[in-house]
Amino acid sequence: MKHLHFDSVDSTMEAARREASASPGNDFLLVTSEVQTGGRGTRGRPWHSPRGNIYLTIAIPRTLISSDRLSLFPLETGLALWESTAALLPPAARDGLRLKWPNDLLWEGRKAAGMLLEATSEHLFVGVGINLVEAPEVVDGGTPSARLSDAGIGEDAGLALAKSFSGNLRDLLMLPALGGARNTVEEWRARALWTKSLRLRDRPARPEVYPVDLNAEGHLKVRFADGREEWLVSEYLA
Ligand code: BTN
Repeated sequence: MKHLHFDSVDSTMEAARREASASPGNDFLLVTSEVQTGGRGTRGRPWHSPRGNIYLTIAIPRTLISSDRLSLFPLETGLALWESTAALLPPAARDGLRLKWPNDLLWEGRKAAGMLLEATSEHLFVGVGINLVEAPEVVDGGTPSARLSDAGIGEDAGLALAKSFSGNLRDLLMLPALGGARNTVEEWRARALWTKSLRLRDRPARPEVYPVDLNAEGHLKVRFADGREEWLVSEYLA
């Protein structure tokens, strides 16, 4: 796949959009950067992007992904990131690497990588910020950060991890869908951290909920403190 690497860029999301529209192709495109000056997180939050971590976006032509694959797409991206990261960790450290719905990567319960999924009529964009040596302070009530160097990953592993992830994601998405060679929902369940509560940061009073179950569409059932339960849907295409 084509790979563009920057020392510094506004955001790899923007760089990938620019490249995908300037040179449309029929394969995955990988854009990486050492630094971002305008990194974006989910829901318009900034993503602090200091040197030492790695920032990447994969642009995927929509013609390569069948529409019945889209509901599980956020889980498949998380699984591919888990696998590529786990492969670079010492075996004893792998159990501490977990997924938080839909695709945050946690190390010992703290956020080691965040993912932003966006779509245009032509492409899906998978943006990932991976904390390798810096764990930026989280000031808005989100999950505290981790850095993967504490888990034993090499401090210069960023580019290798980005390339491995993009290759893994392409392989995973090219496999037969549900019921085929892999069961995305079961694999995701096995790698998730079920004991940690989540905060619904976009709801009034940011309620704390506990994850309970995951269904075949990739929706997460959560339980509120009063015992009420609700299915959450990942609205990444909104
Ligand atoms: C989150 O809020 O958890 C998602 C963070 C996504 C950050 C990555 S860094 C690479 C890509 N470029 C961006 O501007 N954002 C994503």
